[in-house]
Order: sequence, then C-alpha cells, then structure tokens
Amino acid sequence: LRILTPDRSLTGRRVLVTAGPTVEPLDPVRFLSNHSSGRQGYAIAAALAARGADVTLISGPVSIPAPAGVHRISVQTAREMLAACETALPVEVAVCTAAVSDWRARDMAPGKIKKSGDGPPSLELVENPDILATLCRAPQRPRLVVGFAAETDDVLENAQAKRLRKGCDWLVVNDVRQGVFGAMRNTVSLIDDNGVQNWPEMDKTDVAEQIAQRIAAFFADPSS
Ligand code: CTP
Ligand code: CA
Repeated sequence: LRILTPDRSLTGRRVLVTAGPTVEPLDPVRFLSNHSSGRQGYAIAAALAARGADVTLISGPVSIPAPAGVHRISVQTAREMLAACETALPVEVAVCTAAVSDWRARDMAPGKIKKSGDGPPSLELVENPDILATLCRAPQRPRLVVGFAAETDDVLENAQAKRLRKGCDWLVVNDVRQGVFGAMRNTVSLIDDNGVQNWPEMDKTDVAEQIAQRIAAFFADPSS
C-alpha cells in the first residue's frame, strides 16, 4: 500500500542528521574513536528522505553507503562535525545519532609517536564540543531537536537527566548492556516532555520508520 500511496508528508522540510563515530587523531597513524556503525542514523536519514524531507547527513567514517536522495557530508573529527552542522543551519529538525568522541588529544603529534625506553607516552585529552547541546542553544535552533543516548547503568534516570541537560525535545535511549553496536535490531525508549515510552525490540529500520512517523506527526500537529 505504501508503494501505491507514498507518504510524502515531510516534503521540503530541511533536516540534519548526524551519524557514525568521530575519529580524533593522536598522530598521523593512530586515533581515538568508538564502535558506532552509523546504521541507526543512516536508517533515519533514509526514512526521512523517503517522506520527501531535504536531508543533510553529516557522518563520521562508516562502511555503509549514503541512502538514496540524501546529501551526505563526510567528516572525521567532532569539531569538523560541529562546523558542518552549523553550516547546514537553518533546518527545521536535527536528529543527532552520532557517537561523538567525548575527548580528543590536546595536541596531535606531527609525527608518529615512537616507543621509548621510558614506558608508554601520556596522552593529554581535552573535551570535544557538544554538538547536540550547541544546536539546542543556537540562535537558529531547529524547531525539533532529537538526541540519542546509549547507557549501561540507571538507563532511564541517566537519560532523563541527559535530555534536560542538553535541552533537546526528544531523547531516544538504548540500553547497550545487550550489545547494539553494529547490530541490526534495537530496543529503545523515547523520552519527551510527556514522559517515557518503551518501544518493543525491532529492526533499526523500523525504529527509523517510527521516528520518521513521529516527526511527520509533530509537523502535522506541533502541539501533539
Ligand atoms: N553528542 C554530541 N556531541 C558530543 C557528545 C554527544 O552531539 N560531544 C550527542 C550524541 O550525538 C547524542 C547525545 O549527545 O545524541 C548523547 O550522547 P552521549 O554520549 O550519551 O552524551 P554525553 O553528554 O557525551 O554523556 P556520556 O558521558 O554519557 O557519554
Ligand atoms: Ca559521550
């Protein structure tokens, strides 16, 4: 039925999606990063584009192709991801699924760090900018900002506090004790002003469909 009557309810809406890991160089051959596959973010970008949205996908390095009809901008570091997001503004919706590296080396070594006789080098780290929080406080704040969180302990308590701290409208949280990185399925809860909704386990593409439907419903009736 979807094929006969495609849902184009997000036609012309400008949307930004961040996805994948960021990669923070330590020297020309080594980096700090994480296990994000980009799958959930790419599925959301695809679901929004299928509904007609004008999607900019700002992505760290991943091994999956850009979905059809999506404008992908590839970045490496958190600072590059933030700059690309700021360039993409104004948008009506921002969905931040990226696993942004929380820290980077204070200074990238210009040459390869060599083993020395006096044990391992010490790395001085500094905190990366918070892209989601920056978008939430931007003068051109998107009307709807959606964050993601992966938690291992006190999942809902941490997520509720995180949503308020960041200032996003919706926070989609998953419990990563049961391994979600690179997996095809996901079990999430969605937190908004009205509280917590627990969704059943489903494919990441179905999580993406549900989120895209909810975004379409938000624009159909922003008070809902
Ligand atoms: N996020 C971001 N920029 C960062 C860190 C996180 O945009 N520098 C976004 C992620 O894309 C996600 C949300 O913030 O949408 C939550 O990420 P998470 O890592 O759970 O939050 P942190 O504030 O980094 O907290 P934690 O100490 O639990 O890692
Ligand atoms: Ca983090």
